[in-house]
Amino acid sequence: MTLSPVPENPLRDVGLRLHRTPPPCTLIIFGVTGDLASRKLLPALYNLALRRLLPTGFTVVGYARREKNHEPFRQEMHEAVAQFSRTTPLQEAVWKSFAEGLFYQQGNFDDPAGYRKLKEMLEQAERERGTGGNRLFYLATPPAFFPEIISQLGAAGLVQAISGSERRPWSRIIIEKPFGHDLASAQELNRQVLQVFHEDQVYRIDHYLGKETVQNLLVFRFANGIFEPIWNRRYVDHVQITVAESLGVEGRGDYYETAGVIRDIIQNHMLQLLSLTAMEPPVTAEANAIRDEKVKVLRAIRPIRPDEVGQYTVRGQYGPGVIAGERVPGYREEPDVAPDSVTETYAALKLYIDSWRWAGVPFYLRSGKRLPKRVTEIAIQFKGVPLMLFANGAGNDIEPNVLGLNIQPDEGIALRFGAKVPGPAMRIRPVAMDFRYGAAFGDAAPDAYERLLLDCMLGDSTLFTRRDEVEAAWQFITPIIEGWKASQPHFPNYAAGTWGPEESQRFMEQDGRRWRRL
Ligand code: BG6
Repeated sequence: MTLSPVPENPLRDVGLRLHRTPPPCTLIIFGVTGDLASRKLLPALYNLALRRLLPTGFTVVGYARREKNHEPFRQEMHEAVAQFSRTTPLQEAVWKSFAEGLFYQQGNFDDPAGYRKLKEMLEQAERERGTGGNRLFYLATPPAFFPEIISQLGAAGLVQAISGSERRPWSRIIIEKPFGHDLASAQELNRQVLQVFHEDQVYRIDHYLGKETVQNLLVFRFANGIFEPIWNRRYVDHVQITVAESLGVEGRGDYYETAGVIRDIIQNHMLQLLSLTAMEPPVTAEANAIRDEKVKVLRAIRPIRPDEVGQYTVRGQYGPGVIAGERVPGYREEPDVAPDSVTETYAALKLYIDSWRWAGVPFYLRSGKRLPKRVTEIAIQFKGVPLMLFANGAGNDIEPNVLGLNIQPDEGIALRFGAKVPGPAMRIRPVAMDFRYGAAFGDAAPDAYERLLLDCMLGDSTLFTRRDEVEAAWQFITPIIEGWKASQPHFPNYAAGTWGPEESQRFMEQDGRRWRRL
């Protein structure tokens, strides 16, 4: 079945999106008994309820394989929200009214009978709670079930043929990562999804895009006149993007063994950060205009061929070590991890974006688990002055200007520059102009899932990944994975609690650069 495209609503322009209460709808969560639902989705929905951002009659139907009635399900979700909500304590009155719209439907993912029962339940909820037939499906199951669920939804006639208009009910689908495990599987999944849904109805989620500081990248770059003129190869020496985590695999060894950091973080979260950093100004703030520019960046990344991985990448795996004073096991000792696993938990890449703006400017990306701290940062390192009047060394510490965009946890932006140390001598030291979100705005930022769930209900796909984007990302990543497969790494090669393998320091040194100390 192919569906005809729906015209974009011009009022979706970011600048006009001030009233943000979505129309009534039902959210159907597949795999509701899993971790994602209890740690992220339900807490996000409860916080939306608390902020009065959910529509009246908002309904959630959890669909999963285990037998369960509505009441015990509500009780479990209550416990999960009490534990994981970003706001505490739980406001029982808000929870009570939210929980009245919470239902459970038992069913196997491949059993048509389950979907028939789901349909009845949805129709009943729609009649009784006035959700207008609007349906938002959320795939929070392991990815192996995605194709089956999608085709069952289509076969059961649960999907309305359009993504929504003022008068007719809409159906949309949110698909969690990982979206495929390489280019071919991502293309195949896209093909399966698009047999049942139109692209306008598909919301591929990358929770990094829901982070306030990530969205601020667009504002920082395109609502301020002073940075854009220097945001290019004439002024920028190189860019470093770091996603460091101190956590290990947290009981997800099974999944992580099939992913590694390249699929878990780099293919999605980091390439999103990269494309927002490197994109051209879009012609409007509308979803597709922004995504058009992001996809151009991904397509302009110079491919790293399998035989070039030694030159452009470093990979690592942590062994036992100490983090924050505590001994932690090595990756190979984690549950569900093979004792001789060659899955990488650290990777660094150097890439080039072959465009007029970025020709010749290296972008260094690194991410790893069990690094000394959790920090995500984008650093734009500028070129030095053309002629240095002051002697470096001998009490002078002259470093190039760096603009550091701290995505988390100390959300803020800092510009480093050289300043004269007060006193009779001409001594220079780097100092920083610092902007901190917390100090400037006070309020704690909402969780990424709050923003993304709300956007999807509003039909705003700006912060979701389009089909061509996800494929372009895999197009770049897949040959690297192939290149790595061709040789046996010597793992483990870094101790938990250190900044990755030695080799990654040399990787920078050979370019005359060094990783930022974070
Ligand atoms: C997830 C990964 O997508 O992102 C996890 O699967 C990782 O392995 C997490 O820990 C990091 O997210 P955040 O928001 O804590 O930076």
